[in-house]
Amino acid sequence: MGVNTKEMLVKAQKDGYAVPAFNIHNLETLQVVVETAAELRSPVIIAGTPSTFAYGGRDYIQALVDVAATRYDVPIALHLDHHEVLDDIKESVVLGTKSVMIDASHHPYEENVAIVKEVVEYAHAHGATVEAELGRLGGQEDDLVVDAADAYYTDPAVAKDFVEKTNIDSLAVAIGTAHGMYKSEPKLDINRLAEIRKVVDVPLVLHGASGIPFDTVRTCIELGVCKVNIATELKNPFSDALRQYLVTHEDANDPRKYMEPAKAAMKKVVAEKIKMCMSDNRY
Ligand code: 13P
Repeated sequence: MGVNTKEMLVKAQKDGYAVPAFNIHNLETLQVVVETAAELRSPVIIAGTPSTFAYGGRDYIQALVDVAATRYDVPIALHLDHHEVLDDIKESVVLGTKSVMIDASHHPYEENVAIVKEVVEYAHAHGATVEAELGRLGGQEDDLVVDAADAYYTDPAVAKDFVEKTNIDSLAVAIGTAHGMYKSEPKLDINRLAEIRKVVDVPLVLHGASGIPFDTVRTCIELGVCKVNIATELKNPFSDALRQYLVTHEDANDPRKYMEPAKAAMKKVVAEKIKMCMSDNRY
């Protein structure tokens, strides 16, 4: 059944690796992620944004992940990515989700604190762990679009206060990553991450990891990042391979066949990212 991510992340923090959080969108993308994680003996977080749950149904997705979690003997957790509405969170927690992100980072600081506290109280009472974000990432994550002008970095001193006031289990930091692919290689504020780590002891989360070079992600892991979120870099090879197959096989009409090249292309990236996170062979 649903696994809480606290133990997963604390173990990663202790042993110096990160748990990859892969955004999935349907049965096929879930299959790729859990099969690859099981083959590589890696814990894995299955992330879904509100629009993914609107598309697939909270009950359907929960049931799929529950089956995956019993089928494989590596830790598999369903996680609510970038949720903003407590009622949505409650709906999933009642269904068995044990890991949630409340993203109130677009609200003024005190409001962010108040919203997060309310979610933490509810989630902890139901055995679920909570991630929250301080600072704001630019870019696009499904329906959520943040202009570069509205993005801002996490302030270490405020991060300390935020974690103390809210009692969150993990903190998503804004240090220069963005959602979606980058036009040029982003320059991350590694010193800021080190400063945050000095004053915050909960596991840190790196959003927007698609397109960030391996070595940079590794440096972030050394500095306390225990969860690395990847979405776009999986969607792209899946969609490109599917498109290529359909264009070159005009008569293709069997989803069980034409999904295979898409799954294979995505699988390659999932395996690379697990190795990047150094989460392979941990179980
Ligand atoms: P990318 O799409 O940039 O990989 O971001 C994923 C993410 O941070 C999900 O929360």
